[in-house]
Amino acid sequence: MAELEEVLPALAEEMAARTDRGEVADYIPQLRKIDPGRFGIAVALNDGRVITAGDADEAFSIQSISKMFTLTLALGKVGDALWRRVGREPSGNPFNSIVQLEHELGIPRNPFINAGAIVVTDVLLAGHQPREALGEILRFIQFLADDDGIAIDREVAASERATGYRNFALANYMRAFGNLQHEPQLALGVYFHHCAIAMSCRQLALSAQFLAHEGRNPATGHSVVSAERARRILALMLTCGHYDGSGDFAFRVGIPGKSGVGGGIIGIVPGVASIAVWSPGLNENGNSRLGSIALEKLTKAMNWSVFAP
Ligand code: DON
Repeated sequence: MAELEEVLPALAEEMAARTDRGEVADYIPQLRKIDPGRFGIAVALNDGRVITAGDADEAFSIQSISKMFTLTLALGKVGDALWRRVGREPSGNPFNSIVQLEHELGIPRNPFINAGAIVVTDVLLAGHQPREALGEILRFIQFLADDDGIAIDREVAASERATGYRNFALANYMRAFGNLQHEPQLALGVYFHHCAIAMSCRQLALSAQFLAHEGRNPATGHSVVSAERARRILALMLTCGHYDGSGDFAFRVGIPGKSGVGGGIIGIVPGVASIAVWSPGLNENGNSRLGSIALEKLTKAMNWSVFAP
C-alpha cells in the first residue's frame, strides 16, 4: 500500500496545478471573497499520526459540515425522539430546496439538508437562550478537536443572515406545520452562527476522529457517542452528506462524508482515519469540486472503502 507521507504532498501539488476548480459560493456575500486557489488536506489516523499537505492550517468556513456536530449533540439530547421531527432518507434535491416540505408536512427528509439542520438547531435551543445554545455547540467542537482556538466568523454569520431569505422561508414553513418550537429568527440566528464556525483541515480532521474510532476520540481517549450511534451518523453521512450528489460521492469515493459550501469536506474511513479536505470552488451540487476529486484519488491510492473488508 502507498505511504500517506508521499501520497498527500503529491496530491496537494496536483490539485494546486489544476484550473478546473469550480465556482466559489456566492449566495453568501462574505464567502465570495475567498481565494479559489486554496487547497488543504489533513488525515488524522487512529494510530495518532496527523499528516497534512497544502493549506491545511488555514481556517475556512465549515458551513454545512457543522450539521454533523449539531446532529451528534441533538441525538445526545433527545435520542431517537429526533426522528419524529426529521427523516433519514436522501432528499434527491438541492440542500436548500423547499419542494418536499409541503408534501411531507413540514418534516424534512434528513438532518443535513438545510430544513433538517434548522430543526436540529431548534432541538438544541430548547431550554436555552440562543447565545447559550451556540456556546454549547462551539464548546462541543472545541472539545472534540481538543482546541480552544476554534471560533465563529461573525462577519460570515452576519452576511448569511442578511441574505438568508431561503432559510427564513424554510423555517417559517416548518413553523407553520408546527415543526419548529422557536421563532424562526431565533433558530436561524443559532443556525447561521454554527455554519459560520471557522476551522482548518487539521482541526476538522481531529474533531471528527471519534467517528472513525467507534465513538471515542483516540487522541484524548474521550468517549463522545456509543459505537452504535457513530455507525448511524456515518450511515446518514454516506446517504445524505452530499445532498443530491450523495450517490455519486459514495460511488466515486466509497466512504461517508459531509460537505459544506465553504469548500470543506470531512470523510471518515471507519477504523482507520478521519480526512478533512478544503478547496473553495464548488461543483453543480454545491460540494467542493477538487475536494471530492482529491478524496477519490486518496481513497483509491490507499485502498480505503467502506465497501471492502
Ligand atoms: O444555510 C446555508 O445555505 C449555509 N449556511 C450552509 C449550506 C451548505 O453548506 C450546503 N453544503 N454544501
